[in-house]
Amino acid sequence: MSCSVVIGAQWGDEGKAKMIDFFSQKADIIVRYQGGANAGHTVVANGQKHIFHLIPSGILHPGKICVLGNGVVLDPIQLVSEMDNLISQSIDISYRLLISDAAHLILPYHKALDGALEELRSNKIGTTGRGIGPCYADKCLRTGIRVGDIFLDSKTLEKKVRQTLEVKNLQLVKMHKKDPFSIEEIMEIILAFKKRIQKMIINTGYYLNEEAKKNKTIILEGAQGFGLDIDHGTYPFVTSSNPTIGGALLGSGLNHSVIDKVIGISKAYITRVGEGPFPTEDFGDDGNLLRDKGGEYGSTTGRPRRCGWFDVELMKQTARICGLTDITLTKIDVLSGFEKIKVAVGYEYKGKKIDMFPSYLLDDIKPVYEELDGWTEDISKCKTYDELPQNTRDYIAFLEKAVGVPMSIISVGPDRENTIVRDTWKKTKL
Ligand code: GDP
Ligand code: IMO
Ligand code: MG
Repeated sequence: MSCSVVIGAQWGDEGKAKMIDFFSQKADIIVRYQGGANAGHTVVANGQKHIFHLIPSGILHPGKICVLGNGVVLDPIQLVSEMDNLISQSIDISYRLLISDAAHLILPYHKALDGALEELRSNKIGTTGRGIGPCYADKCLRTGIRVGDIFLDSKTLEKKVRQTLEVKNLQLVKMHKKDPFSIEEIMEIILAFKKRIQKMIINTGYYLNEEAKKNKTIILEGAQGFGLDIDHGTYPFVTSSNPTIGGALLGSGLNHSVIDKVIGISKAYITRVGEGPFPTEDFGDDGNLLRDKGGEYGSTTGRPRRCGWFDVELMKQTARICGLTDITLTKIDVLSGFEKIKVAVGYEYKGKKIDMFPSYLLDDIKPVYEELDGWTEDISKCKTYDELPQNTRDYIAFLEKAVGVPMSIISVGPDRENTIVRDTWKKTKL
């Protein structure tokens, strides 16, 4: 059996989709396990760029099965638009997109409430506005509408939706002074969705475990990243799900015994979009240069990403909590041309050294940096580790030693071609 989990190691946008597309070449099934259309997953294949928000990033490989697990919050309008987009490019998705009957639907009132709550907050989170928090809140309140509900007879379904909608409209109108939604417009969305996707709906927990028994190679695709995890991240500046390893099991229903690799995807520097602590953020020229050279603008909202330096303690905490077996280091090509590259090797709080990524005081700690020599060569054409300049290899070796997990794959450009697999990558089926 072979199942690999792919997890963002920092605050999202680490290049997970690029790597999932790369790994998908050898996989049978690719599963999104949490989050929703807050994700922006960019795949560049044969020079063409695709951005996915919900559809798993392995979809460009003909014949691969793509699954939306029970942990996903699914915006029906967004999903159908992504499906149509692929179909318009003659990418055949029939019979290979499967959807969990237990995934929750994001409906227009979730998005309206996401925006209204954000307006109200004095301490803004900077959400993507895609309705993620309100939908997961409904899941916990046990008032959510699940994908499988579309199979209820029409009267029962309408009654269920009406009950939820009444409460949402009260909140929208009375609390937020916003317009209410009519039952007709919500039902129209649900019924149109039913028409399009009813044949794709299954019990994905059953399906995935049975496929694992048949020795299929499975990839679990995380959205967001460790720092945005609702339990382990920089709360409250987080998303409303668990991108970390626990979320992969919960959101797919796969049992733990089938997992043989947990791969953390880490940028060679760090970015963050939205509000919240970011100890190694660079507010000066270097931060701006990283943004320009790395094209660091959100794939979902277009917002400029905040940029800064690799943070060893953050990465170690991701490795610790998720049990990382490997790290893929991405976007190291962006660092070409920097005379000096900073790496935070710990923090100081009131003059005392802290050797872990803390849950509190993140705005008050000061990173302790080491500076490494940069390189000037364009490394995006390098195909093997040995072709990389000595200073690039020294930088990778420094990070690898500090973190203590093999950096087995090095990504030197956005295309699946721009990927270096090292000898430390222990060949499983992937
Ligand atoms: P994800 O959310 O983790 O899948 O990442 P995004 O797609 O939001 O953002 C990553 C961006 O970096 C995308 O524009 C990718 O095409 C690009 N990218 C991924 N890996 C590399 C790399 O190694 N080098 C460069 N220059 N760009 C990369
Ligand atoms: P991918 O999968 C980067 C951030 C938002 C905000 C916070 C909460 O592309 O890596 P939400 O809409 O989830 O309630 O917003 O989380 N955020 C992301 N940042 N990449 C993402 O996904 C993100 N998804 C959410 O900017 O700060
Ligand atoms: Mg992204």
